[in-house]
Amino acid sequence: MILRKTIAGQLLQLLALIIIHASCHTLTSAKTVNPGGGELQQQPQLEQQQPIQGLPEPRAYMPDSQNLDFVYHDHEELTRFLRATSARYPNLTALYSIGKSIQGRDLWVMVVSSSPYEHMIGKPDVKYVGNIHGNEPVGREMLLHLIQYFVTSYSSDQYVKWLLDNTRIHILPTMNPDGYAVSKEGTCDGGQGRYNARGFDLNRNFPDYFKQNNKRGQPETDAVKDWISKIQFVLSGSLHGGALVASYPYDNTPNSRLLKGICRSSALCAMFQTYSAAPSLTPDDDVLKHLSLVYARNHAKMSRGVACKSATPAFENGITNGAAWYPLTGGMQDYNYVWYGCMEITLEISCCKFPPAYELKKYWEDNQLSLIKFLAEAHRGVQGFVFDPAGMPIERASIKIKGRDVGFQTTKYGEFWRILLPGYYKAEVFAEGFAPREVEFVIVEQHPTLLNVTLQSSKPYLVASSVASSVTTAKTRRVNDKLQLAAD
Ligand SMILES: *[C@@H]1O[C@H](CO)[C@@H](O)[C@H](O)[C@H]1NC(C)=O
Ligand SMILES: *[C@@H]1O[C@H](CO)[C@@H](O)[C@H](O)[C@H]1NC(C)=O
Ligand SMILES: [Zn+2]
Repeated sequence: MILRKTIAGQLLQLLALIIIHASCHTLTSAKTVNPGGGELQQQPQLEQQQPIQGLPEPRAYMPDSQNLDFVYHDHEELTRFLRATSARYPNLTALYSIGKSIQGRDLWVMVVSSSPYEHMIGKPDVKYVGNIHGNEPVGREMLLHLIQYFVTSYSSDQYVKWLLDNTRIHILPTMNPDGYAVSKEGTCDGGQGRYNARGFDLNRNFPDYFKQNNKRGQPETDAVKDWISKIQFVLSGSLHGGALVASYPYDNTPNSRLLKGICRSSALCAMFQTYSAAPSLTPDDDVLKHLSLVYARNHAKMSRGVACKSATPAFENGITNGAAWYPLTGGMQDYNYVWYGCMEITLEISCCKFPPAYELKKYWEDNQLSLIKFLAEAHRGVQGFVFDPAGMPIERASIKIKGRDVGFQTTKYGEFWRILLPGYYKAEVFAEGFAPREVEFVIVEQHPTLLNVTLQSSKPYLVASSVASSVTTAKTRRVNDKLQLAAD
């Protein structure tokens, strides 16, 4: 049995390689990063960041039921709360809509930051997305309470003040308001309300790295794709229900495509399912595991890894690789990570998908510290600017940390961020019209490393770099290899 498994495994690996190669073409259709979200300013300025380590822990929030009760809010109530909050806290919040659901409900985003209307140059933008599955609304309510917590704690809590002074936090409480509208409180399982109004699962509706996703793009998904193409998010959490675990990319695996063809014969199926449920790890596995652990360990229960029911899995330390749990195609976290280098993880925060409202207060108590501490992780790693020889920022310079094939690009202000754990790293930086450059740096635990890179104009024979401008992250490695060859 073991021998047969090994042979089958090798066969799968071979096929997987072929599939990875075959699916590379899907990446060329991806949009390039064009971060927006702010008015053009003159010269980039970067204030020296005070490290978040050493600040007192965020204080527990005293719910003020006059403004926000622990009940489920329908779309009208949610809209009213967001409008009232943005009117009451104009210096800390900004409300915008990234589009509408099929049935015309606004997909509201609340920015919470001491600079709500403008991107702060040099400082990261982060996000939370709730309720992508309409019948999993605990996250939706948690995000409303998180907004309330931030605005009421800013002036009294040093940790919150630091976070909002140094981060723009974008909160989309519901990505699937139509699904929510047909969901039923008290329904712990099932699919009623999971999908959008046309019956599409929005967390299967994104372009996929491993596999062609033929599902027709839905307005809710398109709105999110457009949103994340305009703002370069460094870190993101997507909130779900139905389990208690922090799940990290990849969600898909090169093997999943094989399942459909092979799983008609049930004897083989079990064997292939074993393989399909193998971890599908990114080159940033250390970082993504760390981020998941930050959430799980700050949560009241998650890191204990207790199974929701006897028939469901128990997750060691409350975290799992997405594909190791079960592979899926078209998920949002893989898209964020592969296309934009945004570290997104999936947070399953309630065993029951739609628990009774009287339990919401408990969920808030369990999640509040996790929700805050997770966002602060955007301030770990390396950040800086890429400049041309005249000191002007270079937009869309591609950066790759050596050994981590999924790259990322600079914003229009020449900024970049990458979450990394302490250690010694090399980055490869290249941009159209400039000679590629390798820089070395060290990451420490206490504060982010600030790294400015100046690129020199390329010699004429390096025109090959013009290819680089039109390709995206995963492809950059191959282009970069070519560039290096050309430079040798
Ligand atoms: C990097 O460049 C920014 C923007 O010009 C500047 O504010 C900052 O001081 C520079 N940092 C370092 C470490 O040189
Ligand atoms: C908002 O900021 C302005 C200008 O800095 C200030 O005058 C005003 O008092 C602030 N308002 C609130 C509600 O904090
Ligand atoms: Zn879900």
